[in-house]
Amino acid sequence: MCGIIGYIGSDDARKIVTDGLLALEYRGYDSAGITYCTNDPSHPVKTVKTTGKVMNLIEKLNDHHEDLVPFSGIGHTRWATHGGVTETNSHPHSFGNVTLIHNGIIENYRELSDKFAGEGKFPVSQTDTEIAAMTIDSFYNGDAYEAIQKASEVLDGSYAFCIIFSDRPDKIYATRKNSPLIAAHCSKGSFVASDIVAIIDYTKDYFILPENYIAELTADNITVYDTSGNIFNPKTIHVDWDIAAAKKGGYEHFMLKEIHEQPDAVINTVSPRIVDGLPDFSSDNVPDELFRDINRIVITACGTAMHAGMLGKYMIEKYARIPVSVDIASEFRYSDPIVDKHTLVIAISQSGETADTLAAVKLAKTLGAKTLAVVNVKGSIIALESDHVLYTHAGPEISVASTKAYTVQLSLMYLIAYKTAMVNNLMSDEEAAAKTKSLTDSVRNMKKVIDMDEELSYITQKLKKADNIFYLGRGLDYAIACEGSLKLKEISYIHSEAYAAGELKHGTISLITDNIPVIAFATQDNVYSKVISNVVEVRSRGAYVILITKSGEHVDTTLCDHHITLPQMDEEFTPFCTAVILQYLAYFTAVRRDLNVDQPRNLAKSVTVE
Ligand code: M6R
Repeated sequence: MCGIIGYIGSDDARKIVTDGLLALEYRGYDSAGITYCTNDPSHPVKTVKTTGKVMNLIEKLNDHHEDLVPFSGIGHTRWATHGGVTETNSHPHSFGNVTLIHNGIIENYRELSDKFAGEGKFPVSQTDTEIAAMTIDSFYNGDAYEAIQKASEVLDGSYAFCIIFSDRPDKIYATRKNSPLIAAHCSKGSFVASDIVAIIDYTKDYFILPENYIAELTADNITVYDTSGNIFNPKTIHVDWDIAAAKKGGYEHFMLKEIHEQPDAVINTVSPRIVDGLPDFSSDNVPDELFRDINRIVITACGTAMHAGMLGKYMIEKYARIPVSVDIASEFRYSDPIVDKHTLVIAISQSGETADTLAAVKLAKTLGAKTLAVVNVKGSIIALESDHVLYTHAGPEISVASTKAYTVQLSLMYLIAYKTAMVNNLMSDEEAAAKTKSLTDSVRNMKKVIDMDEELSYITQKLKKADNIFYLGRGLDYAIACEGSLKLKEISYIHSEAYAAGELKHGTISLITDNIPVIAFATQDNVYSKVISNVVEVRSRGAYVILITKSGEHVDTTLCDHHITLPQMDEEFTPFCTAVILQYLAYFTAVRRDLNVDQPRNLAKSVTVE
C-alpha cells in the first residue's frame, strides 16, 4: 500500500525521491506525487502530482526544469482509500505551513473536518490525509515537534507521516502509529521511507522509528525524540541482501525470478535452524518452553501466509497432537477468540506490516497468549510486536503475488511442527533428524519442478481462455489447492475456486460442465483413491482435468487431459513441489493474457489498512 520516501542531503532530492518511488511501486498504488525544496527564495517548496504510474510523475517533472538542485523532498505512491483516484486526492497535501504524505487511515477525519468547517476552514480534497495536514497546521506556532505531538493526541487511526513545514524547508519531520516507517543516515544525507527497498541503493543500515516518536531529519543527521521530547538513540538494523536482490536480474518478471529463488530461500531459512541435525531455534532466542505447556495453537495470517498456516496446522496436529486453528486475521479480531496463557498464537506475514495480522497479534497479547511471529521483513512491526520472532530468509519479495515467501513460511512451519513434537516427547531425536534431513533434501525436488516450466507453460494455453477454474485436493493438497486458486485469481483475473475434493459433490459440482478446467492434486497416499474418484466425477461431467500425482502412480490416461508427475519423494514434502506448479500455472496464464504480472490491478503488496 502507500509508499513513502523522504530525503534531505547533498544530492538531487527530486531524483532520489522519484527513484525511491519507482522502487516502492511494488507495494501497489494508483497515483504518485512529490514535494521538493530548493533555495529559490520566491518559491522554495513545490509540489507535483499525478494519477497513474510513477513514470507519469517523472514525465511531468521533466516539464518543471530546475536551475537549482533540490536539496530535500518527500514522495508518495497512493493506494486510494478515502476519495477516488484523482490528482487532487494524490499526496502530498498542503494546508497552511504544512505539507505532508501519509500511509494509513485517519479514522476520525469526519469529526475533525466538521470542526474545521465550523472555523471556516475547508479541504480541497476528499482525503483523510488533508485533514491530518490541517490538524498539524492548527497546532503549529513555529515549533514543529509540539505541533506534531499535539496533533498525534487528536488523530485516531494509523499513520506514517513525512512532513515539510514551508517556513523551515531545511528539515523533514516524520512520525508513525501502526504504519511502517524506517529512517537512515549516510554520507549522502538523511532518508525516511516505508521500507528499505526504497533506499537500499544508498545504505543497508537503517532503524525503525518507534511508534509516536518524532524524527527530525537534516542533511547532517537524524534526531529522534521520544514522546516526552527526550532524544532517543535507535538501534540500527543491517540488511544482509543487496540491491541486486531487489532487481529483476534478467528475468522478465519479479515473480518468475522469485519462483526460481525458492530453493535457495528455503535452504537459507532452514539451515541456520538445524543444529546437530535437529530443529533448533536457540539462535533466534525462541526457547523450547514456548512449545510446551500449551493446549492450543492459533495460527493467524492473511492470504497466502494464511495458506502456509493451513499446512502448518496439518503438520503440527499430525506430529505434536495439539489442536491448531487457522484464523483469518481480519476475522480473529472480531470473533471473541478463545485464547489464554496456554495458547500459542503464531502470526505469519511476509511483510510484517499487514494491519489485520498486527491487530490479531495485539489482541492475542492482551488476552494473555504467547505470540510467535514468522516474518520475512526484519524489524517489521509484527516482528517487534510479538514476544518471539522466527525470520524467514527469502530476501525481498517484490512481486505482489507471494511465491518464495510462501515456501519459506512452509519450511518454518514444518520445523515448528517437528520441534513442538520433540519438546512434548512425541518425536524422537532420530525421527526428527530424519524428517529435518528430508525437508532440506526436498529442495532438490523443488529444483526439478522449477525445470518443468515448458510443460507447465504449455498447459496454460488452455487455462488462459477459461472463465472459471477449479482446484481440488484433500489434506495437504487442499491447502495447496487454496493457494493455487488465490494465485491464479490475483494475477490472471480468472475466477477460480478451491475445494476439498470430497466437498464438491455437496453443491458446487453443479458448476462443472463441458471443458471447465479442474486442477486436481492427488499426492497423498491415504486419500489418493478418494481424490481419483472425485476426478472421475468431474471428468464424467465433461471437465478438462489436469491431474498432479507423485511419480509411480498408475494413472488411467482417460481420466485426465494432462498428467503432471512429481519427482520421487516422500508425500509429506510434496507441497514444496506442488507450490511451484501452482505458481507456474498462475504465472504463465497471466503472461499469456498479457497482464501486469508483478503489479496486478487493485492489489497492494503490503496491506496496511484494515
Ligand atoms: O505480508 P503478508 O504476508 O502479511 O501479506 C498477506 C497477504 O496480503 C498476501 O499473502 C497476499 O495474499 C498475497 N498477495 C498473495 O499472493
